[in-house]
Amino acid sequence: MRTYLVLCLVIGLIGSCIGLVQDNFLLVTDSNEHGVVQIDLSAGNVWKVPLSQQSNPIALAYDPLHSKIYWTDVQDKLIKRSNLDGTNEESVNSLHNSSVPDGIAIDTVSRLVFYTDTGLDIIAVMTLDGRHHFTLLDVGLDEPRGIVLHPATGLMYWTDWGSSPKIEVAAMDGTSRRVIVRISSPSWPNGLTLDTFGKRLYWCDGKHGTIESTTLDGSDRKVLITTPGSHFFGIVFMAPKLYYTDWKSRHVSYINVPDSTPSPRLVVSRVFGRPNGLAAYNSTTYAREGLKFANGTECSPSTDKAQDNFLLVADSGRKGLYKLDLSGGNARRISLSRQTNPIAVAYDPVESKIYWTDVADKHIKRSNLDGTHEELIKSLHSRSVPDGIAVDIVSRLVYYTDTGLDIIAVMKLDGRNHFTLLDVGLDEPRGIALHPAAGQALARLYRPSIGPIPASFNIVSQDVAGEVFLGAT
Ligand SMILES: *[C@@H]1O[C@H](CO)[C@@H](O)[C@H](O)[C@H]1NC(C)=O
Ligand SMILES: *[C@@H]1O[C@H](CO)[C@@H](O)[C@H](O)[C@H]1NC(C)=O
Ligand SMILES: *[C@@H]1O[C@H](CO)[C@@H](O)[C@H](O)[C@H]1NC(C)=O
Repeated sequence: MRTYLVLCLVIGLIGSCIGLVQDNFLLVTDSNEHGVVQIDLSAGNVWKVPLSQQSNPIALAYDPLHSKIYWTDVQDKLIKRSNLDGTNEESVNSLHNSSVPDGIAIDTVSRLVFYTDTGLDIIAVMTLDGRHHFTLLDVGLDEPRGIVLHPATGLMYWTDWGSSPKIEVAAMDGTSRRVIVRISSPSWPNGLTLDTFGKRLYWCDGKHGTIESTTLDGSDRKVLITTPGSHFFGIVFMAPKLYYTDWKSRHVSYINVPDSTPSPRLVVSRVFGRPNGLAAYNSTTYAREGLKFANGTECSPSTDKAQDNFLLVADSGRKGLYKLDLSGGNARRISLSRQTNPIAVAYDPVESKIYWTDVADKHIKRSNLDGTHEELIKSLHSRSVPDGIAVDIVSRLVYYTDTGLDIIAVMKLDGRNHFTLLDVGLDEPRGIALHPAAGQALARLYRPSIGPIPASFNIVSQDVAGEVFLGAT
């Protein structure tokens, strides 16, 4: 840091200050420079992140929420992280001695790190601190390399450059796996990236020097550029550009995706040691990405006032559910069938669904926010008294307390895969609240049977009431 400050002072005199920037940058691992390099995309400056000497850093991901860099070292068999300025360097996971972790990605919503391992031929997931580690896939992988996540749909995509080169997709819990692009052999589909708005995947091929693209289901495959004599490795999309690394030219280049015949340009003229994985960050682009629903359209915040800024109330005296509009101040009865004794209520902003319990009918129901699609998702035991309910918007699970059976239980949103989590030491369990960011990893890691988690989602402008209930009689 001291060197950087001095450099900054001296160069500052001639009008530019080379050093860490917090916004609009690329990060690149470099095996020969034994570290991570930051490229300031606004000023074109290059700055080496002040880390200890790394042995062979390869894959890289950036977590903008905590301004942390995550990278793999294929020689030391480590997954490491540090702050963007290089402080707090630490190893978060020490892998098997034959691991070759060539790809890494962070789900910024579920707060999980996914990586490919072409040594063990697995895809694995872990918490950000590496404490909970879980192998998601360990069959049918030959040379898994690039991995990219689609938080809004809960899907992960990866390349495999083995004897049958391909791109595959699966839910982030490893289920629903399928091949979406089969590539003729020999080919080395290498880095992989995603345009969530444009709903396209892009990958670079290390053998043929191509950058190619398809839709998210693998159709409409196109070659964007071919660069003979290259060996492309990493690629990242940040609209409207694709940035990529090349082991042969040792450059970091980009193409402008909307161009009808994109031509490669250098990001900076600098020749790197051996540039590998890369990540891009720009706060404007990132915020815009956050304002998207799963279908990729932009969310225009609160066009419909009644869809936003409200409280939901279960009223057992009036035998119904009410929506209190906090902006307009009016209360509206939600048009449901007559309920017997509704008590606990929760809201899922991802699908705009209300979940509630009825302690007389002993069931859990849900409906759309306007009352349509009312459905019974779970009939409970005759002694059940489900007094509390909560929806984990990330793991897509419903939790409830039952002060009749003295349990806390969990199930999928549609009531399937019901599971009692706690059945001892509960006397009158009532209110329940979840902390999705901290807890959802555990739901998946410890109870794989309860199904897909990170169908993850960015909450935008919804102010969502927890549970409120009035006039229980
Ligand atoms: C982020 O990118 C946009 C679009 O390219 C650009 O206008 C903006 O200046 C960038 N942000 C920063 C902080 O440089
Ligand atoms: C790798 O680990 C195995 C056991 O997990 C051990 O037997 C072997 O000696 C190790 N190899 C090296 C090179 O450390
Ligand atoms: C996308 O999703 C939003 C939110 O669910 C919805 O309002 C919009 O109509 C959808 N647009 C398309 C094109 O499906």
